[in-house]
Amino acid sequence: MQFGAKGEDMITGLHHYALRVPDLAVADSFLQDFGLQTAERSGSLVARCPGRGQDQVLLIEGGPAKRLHYVSFTVHPGSLDAIRESLARDGAGVIDPPAGAAEDGLWTRDPDGTPVQLLDTEPAKPRPVAEGLFNVGAGRQRIGVAQWRAAAEDVLPRRLGHTLLFTPQPGRLTDFYTTVLGLRVSDRIHGGAVTFLNAGPGDHHVFGFIASTHPGFHHASFEVPSIDAIALGAQRMRGRGRDAGWGLGRHTIGSNFFHYNPDPWGSWIEWFSDIDQIDDCWVAGDHDVPPHLWGGPPPETFLANREPHRE
Ligand SMILES: [Fe+2]
Repeated sequence: MQFGAKGEDMITGLHHYALRVPDLAVADSFLQDFGLQTAERSGSLVARCPGRGQDQVLLIEGGPAKRLHYVSFTVHPGSLDAIRESLARDGAGVIDPPAGAAEDGLWTRDPDGTPVQLLDTEPAKPRPVAEGLFNVGAGRQRIGVAQWRAAAEDVLPRRLGHTLLFTPQPGRLTDFYTTVLGLRVSDRIHGGAVTFLNAGPGDHHVFGFIASTHPGFHHASFEVPSIDAIALGAQRMRGRGRDAGWGLGRHTIGSNFFHYNPDPWGSWIEWFSDIDQIDDCWVAGDHDVPPHLWGGPPPETFLANREPHRE
């Protein structure tokens, strides 16, 4: 089996991510304001998107500062043995699950030392949403309907889309996640200052890296049903006394509408809508572009890696 070949990519998507944070009560209220449903499980906090039966975030309590605990991916059905062989060829061992994590699937470490869970399971279906009908460009799809009455009805996150991590070695990490685990490069900015990876046809990126001095968690991003949902979510967060964050805007790479809120630990959480969908013919490029096509400039702290250095 040749990994990374069409139709044989091993990772099929991002399942959830886990952070260690100092205070679960702080995390709980923040994630609820963001629009996730939270629950306590075995002393940890789990968060899900309304209407989707899949953990999206796991938070364990501990330490003086937030740190990335692990990332979890779904893999192509029946490919765990092939992944084990691929990891062995790369010299990456299988590890025990980190504290507070489930034993399911296969666990390894990426070259930065971040634990990675590989789950042979189908991703849960995102919450169903209504088809968008737009009167834009030459299209006239919505006739006789007052959109303002419906625009605020369904605004909460429906699925985790992607996460981006800081790394001091984006080239090495990209090699690992593509050659060993079967993701593909979607695009790069500034020769690898930012690298976006995909899992085959679907979202432009499900994972990626931002070059930094040391490893860390930058942001996770959740799809909402519409651009209205992004703006209404931002309004909801401001109404609850949260920082205004960054947005509304449209990204360059990936093209999605976005709004980011700073989380309580110096990293970010994003709502997105209208992300580019790629196919098997997608050709990766290297782009010298700012992160946004329009919208205000990112906060000066947007690329600050406040995570403590690892031991
Ligand atoms: Fe994002």
